[in-house]
Amino acid sequence: MSIPHSFRFFALAFFVAQSAHAQSSLLQARSSGEQVYKTVCVACHETGVANAPKYGDRAAWAPLIAEGQNVLTAHAWVGVRGMPARGGSAELSLADFSRGVAYMAQAAGGNWKDPDAKLLRDIANEADKRLTGSIKEQQSMQRELRRIVKAAK
Ligand code: HEC
Repeated sequence: MSIPHSFRFFALAFFVAQSAHAQSSLLQARSSGEQVYKTVCVACHETGVANAPKYGDRAAWAPLIAEGQNVLTAHAWVGVRGMPARGGSAELSLADFSRGVAYMAQAAGGNWKDPDAKLLRDIANEADKRLTGSIKEQQSMQRELRRIVKAAK
């Protein structure tokens, strides 16, 4: 049975609308950096859970701030060791998350502002690079595992 043409068109239109929505919602800022910090990041960054750099700790933040706003924000967004991707909050947009990072950097002496559209694109691009690197690493691990499983048969 073939899928009716009208349905296929509807599905395509739906898909396009969804991806446009995902894109705009990632760029949409709904909260201030302070609000993001106080609702999400505070859980770990206030007391330094699992060695999270503490809010206001200049010594801990100095080398992070030196990485640059686009790179640091992108790495934190994708997740690094004990730092969960998106701070573990699936509803957080990239714009809001970035404001949370800027807010913590400011508290530690960094002159970071809420990112504008261009900086947000740079952050997205850095995050994409970081993800591509880890996906490749995982694929090579997977290939190795498959060779082992096959050899054992
Ligand atoms: C569940 C605990 C947890 C939450 C919630 C959390 N973080 Fe983190 N974060 C960590 C830990 C742990 C590290 C240290 C990771 C490491 O270097 O081992 C970290 C590191 C970071 C870093 C430095 C990343 C790097 O490259 O070294 C940034 C920036 C950051 N967090 C931002 C945020 C922001 C913004 C939020 C809120 C939106 C947030 N975090 C929420 C645990 C958390």
